[in-house]
Amino acid sequence: MAVIQDEHSLTAQLNPIHSFKDIIMSKLLHIDSSILGGNSVSRQLTAQIVASWRASHPATEVSYLDLAVDTPSHLSAESLGFSVPAGAGELNAVQKRENAISEALVAQFLAADVLVIGAPLYNFAIPTQLKAWIDRVAQVGRTFTYTDKGPVGLAGGKTVIIASARGGVYSTSDAGNAMEHQESYLKTVFGFFGVTDVRVVRAEGLAMGEAAKAAALASAEIDITMQTKTAANEAQATLAA
Ligand SMILES: Cc1cc2nc3c(=O)[nH]c(=O)nc-3n(C[C@H](O)[C@H](O)[C@H](O)COP(=O)(O)O)c2cc1C
Repeated sequence: MAVIQDEHSLTAQLNPIHSFKDIIMSKLLHIDSSILGGNSVSRQLTAQIVASWRASHPATEVSYLDLAVDTPSHLSAESLGFSVPAGAGELNAVQKRENAISEALVAQFLAADVLVIGAPLYNFAIPTQLKAWIDRVAQVGRTFTYTDKGPVGLAGGKTVIIASARGGVYSTSDAGNAMEHQESYLKTVFGFFGVTDVRVVRAEGLAMGEAAKAAALASAEIDITMQTKTAANEAQATLAA
């Protein structure tokens, strides 16, 4: 996150600053993973979240990743090269190509201040496309490390907003919460990377009739307004400015 104008500059004096949000440049990474294209609810929610974020943070720079289109291949012996110790031998051409994909994805993730991630519930878990992306960014020495006291996340300071879309209702009972491996998994993995600000915008019960769907979308819309006001690293950036 970088401050792009100082309060005493000529431009600032001519155009008085109403809020630090007007001048703080942050990077938002918008990720979709639904396979349902125009019928996708999580895509609808991520678009609304990003629009709402931009409205309250006009200086945000947005990049977009559609994992249903640009799907990284499953982790394999060839793509696991990023964890091969230095000096273990020359990588072959396939390994180099796969490593370049992983490097681009982890660099893009690390550069983002805010991530908005569309996460449908498919077969009680996240789409395989989203899991393939997580497998590429989960890199020792980049997003986490191990110490003698246990694992430490290296990607703290970010805000992650998960747009969760579900056919059934899981959030209102212990049994439901135990069955879903989507929100719970994403909270675990981003927590492991050191992200302490993981927010969820949820639309669930989408397959339970039109009234239930409309109620779920209305409730998600309220969540979006609440969850897009302030980023985790905004307070520090404002103090530093
Ligand atoms: C392949 C597939 C598997 C699904 N599995 C589940 C499931 O396990 N539990 C559930 O509540 N809904 C399930 N659903 C319903 C989706 O969660 C629901 O359609 C949601 O809107 C998906 O998000 P999307 O519209 O962004 O793709 C499934 C839908 C699809 C297409």
